[in-house]
Amino acid sequence: MHTTLAPVVRVSRGDTSPHGTDASVAGRPLDVLGVPGEINLDYAATAPCARVAADAVAELLPWYGSVHRGAGALSRRSTLAYERARAEVGDFLGVRPDDHVVFTRNTTDALNLLARALPPGTRVVTFAGEHHANLLPWPAGTVRLPVPTSPGGAVRALDAALRELRRGPDGGAPVLVAVTGASNVTGEIWPVAELTAVAHRHAARLALDAAQLAPHAEVNLDALDVDYVAISGHKLYAPFGAGVLAGRADWLDAAPPYLAGGGATLAVGAATHDVRWATGPARHEAGTPNLLGAVALAAVCSALTRSDRAAWYAHEQALLARLRDGLAALPDVVELRTFAADGPRVGIVSFVVAGRDSAEVAAALAEEWRIGVRDGLFCAHPLARRLLTEAAARAGRDDLPPTAIRASIGLGSTAQHVDRLLTALATLTGARLTPWSG
Ligand code: ALA
Repeated sequence: MHTTLAPVVRVSRGDTSPHGTDASVAGRPLDVLGVPGEINLDYAATAPCARVAADAVAELLPWYGSVHRGAGALSRRSTLAYERARAEVGDFLGVRPDDHVVFTRNTTDALNLLARALPPGTRVVTFAGEHHANLLPWPAGTVRLPVPTSPGGAVRALDAALRELRRGPDGGAPVLVAVTGASNVTGEIWPVAELTAVAHRHAARLALDAAQLAPHAEVNLDALDVDYVAISGHKLYAPFGAGVLAGRADWLDAAPPYLAGGGATLAVGAATHDVRWATGPARHEAGTPNLLGAVALAAVCSALTRSDRAAWYAHEQALLARLRDGLAALPDVVELRTFAADGPRVGIVSFVVAGRDSAEVAAALAEEWRIGVRDGLFCAHPLARRLLTEAAARAGRDDLPPTAIRASIGLGSTAQHVDRLLTALATLTGARLTPWSG
């Protein structure tokens, strides 16, 4: 049986979650799972699992049943849990009453969905500094603006590009601006509210890739006036395969279904094309949905909403400063950055060790120090290559490797983790040990 999804139900902050999270998380960081002795500094790729996410899944598992497709108690409870999860994630993202919250696999999936839902003739404007997920799904004719050197430069470049687009032959076309909230390479925070204001001044919409911003800072569609937002559960301490696209309903309801199949339909006739498609999130969620992923993500969102986010943001910023100061003190280490060194950023730092292959350094960190980082170009090849070139010029060195190392932190990260990385790097590079080594 296929039922039409209920409209988004707002769950107000402070309501009791059906997933076992409780108000006790308020005022202290959420616990995350890990392995003693293993130091995880790769949150930007995949964050560890929050205990609330694991607990929510464990609590629901005995009740696991068919979502929107059954009459039994298990199915009814599973359907309720799925739709409550949608409401909780929507609340976390500050959705407006007429927005849709569509569950996807991850941010890449969410942005591909949005790319397929663009009205015919839509022009897209983005920056070359984006993650591949926000570079590659967009249609031919997308305007890719050069990586700006400052947040203000990004705003001015967008303003100029949109003015030119509006003056051109496609001047009346729908326009979507697609930008990141925080870079997955540098952690630098982009001026989302200002970019949105510029987009709206030119009657364009803005889609925010919040994969890296949402795990660290509040992302509120209503407050930012952003039109669409995409997030990934695996970067938000809920690694059960769910992501979200949330935002304006009209384009989503008018678009062809992202997936064609059961659950996305209102009625199907005998003739090949005799299909009435659902509107609402169901239109793009054909097939049995990822209930456990949605519930895990919602459990984290609820817990974060209730926690003292300012306190853990401050804690993370203190760790980030400790990490960056320590890296800056190592003579052979060069940090990558797009904007000024003192600009706002989340807990992500990419760097190179001059004269050393990044993959070798990352392997040594893993094998000799039990520290997990990521090396490479971080699914943002145009940006990472450019920043490597700029870093070489800034440092006046010609021995930087062609790929970088990235350390990223979040809930559960400690000063000891940071210090261990700095000690390891100092040892690997033969640098004099500084006070953090003690
Ligand atoms: N987007 C993820 C990263 O930056 C995979 O590592």
